[in-house]
Amino acid sequence: MSNIATLEVNGQKHELPVVTGTENEVAIDIKSLRATTGGVITIDPGYKNTGSCESGITFLDGEKGILRYRGYSIEELAEKADFLEVAYLLIFGELPSTEQLDKFYSDIKSKSVVDDDIRKIVDAFPKSAHPMGVLSSLTSALTAFNPSSVNVDSEEEMYNSVVKILGKFPVLVAWTMRKKQGLPLDYGDNSLGYVENVLKMMFKQPNEEYIQNKVIVDALDKLLILHADHEQNCSTSTVRIVGSSHAGLFASLSAGISALWGPLHGGANQAVLEMLEAIKEDGGDTKKYMAKAKDKNDPFRLMGFGHRVYKNFDPRAKIIKVAADEVLESLGVDDPILAIAKGLEQEALNDDYFVKRKLYPNVDFYSGIIYRAMGIPTEMFTVMFALGRLPGWIAQWREMRLRKEPIGRPRQLYIGETYRDFKNIEKR
Ligand code: SDX
Repeated sequence: MSNIATLEVNGQKHELPVVTGTENEVAIDIKSLRATTGGVITIDPGYKNTGSCESGITFLDGEKGILRYRGYSIEELAEKADFLEVAYLLIFGELPSTEQLDKFYSDIKSKSVVDDDIRKIVDAFPKSAHPMGVLSSLTSALTAFNPSSVNVDSEEEMYNSVVKILGKFPVLVAWTMRKKQGLPLDYGDNSLGYVENVLKMMFKQPNEEYIQNKVIVDALDKLLILHADHEQNCSTSTVRIVGSSHAGLFASLSAGISALWGPLHGGANQAVLEMLEAIKEDGGDTKKYMAKAKDKNDPFRLMGFGHRVYKNFDPRAKIIKVAADEVLESLGVDDPILAIAKGLEQEALNDDYFVKRKLYPNVDFYSGIIYRAMGIPTEMFTVMFALGRLPGWIAQWREMRLRKEPIGRPRQLYIGETYRDFKNIEKR
């Protein structure tokens, strides 16, 4: 295969290097394009055909429905690893030994206390505030309480920031939920595992002992693993570009949380449940919603369906769909929403509009059904996505900084007014 691409523009030929990744993906390196062509650039709204970086963290093949973290398949990791192991793998590149994992968790636990003044910020929010807005604000506020975590250049300084946010973020997640529920803002218990501690902080009632349910612990652990990274998705690209200006890790993560909030991205898991509820209220009339989704004059989309990269089944959706059945059965939950979701999936998979556009269920289609069975409020679903995605965002931010990537600053094609003289107001 040639490692040169030839481009002819304005009657001149230019040669551009062709680079190949370890999974035989091929890219045209256009770093020199503008200089060698006298100013010609490419344009690609939504970056559907444009790579922003080289990365060794996550590989996915949208046509084959493959997803791997640092070379390990998502299927094996979801089955055999736990969330903290996967976080270590994504951030540092290797599965940890027992000693490495113990030290990692010990360092995280040692930094898991959140400054008590942050409670005042939580108190200042109305109960009606969307949890993603609260979480993004609290994450950014951590910068004020941890100034040494802003300008981090050495690997050691970065490590300190990493264990701090992995320790404090679950507290902020729990406080965000308990604020809405009018429950006291509590800490967990460092004698527990990472996911058990999250559940205790979220669900412990002030007047009762919290009893862990292994089905819920295992299901949340698996969901967090499945959400942990996904190469250069919208929120991860946001974390990278904000971090590329050397803004601190917490500020970069706060921006990523805001990007994830959107209903076209992580906010879809909440939108899926709201859609399924609406269909249920409508007497289960899935055909009406299918018609709406296909109607170009109707902005409604079948939430939880379609994906920028997967033009086959999202491998995470397959795993979550099986887990949904298992969790609901184990918990003895009979949720009619699950049957509606399966019916909708079957209709879409046999509908020409969806088949032609290769629209399959994505990670968000079934996840909310499990969260709901766990007793997590619908508005908290995207917060749970953020909790899962945290190690991926950290890993990508750290890779970008360690590779000393340049500040992100895309070009544009100007299509506005050409030069014109100023017009005094009396002449307008
Ligand atoms: C996530 O990128 C990631 O990796 C994200 C993520 C991660 O882990 O970080 O995987 C998480 O964000 C999953 C996606 C969650 N979003 C949703 O479920 C929202 C519903 N899905 C769509 O909005 C849409 O599919 C996107 C945004 C996910 C992808 O949109 P694209 O790639 O920009 O595709 P498109 O908008 O160009 O759509 C192509 C065609 C269009 O029809 P035509 O103009 O060709 O006639 O497919 C149609 C679209 O109208 N289409 C849909 C549809 N999704 C696409 N039609 C109805 N329902 C849908 N859901």
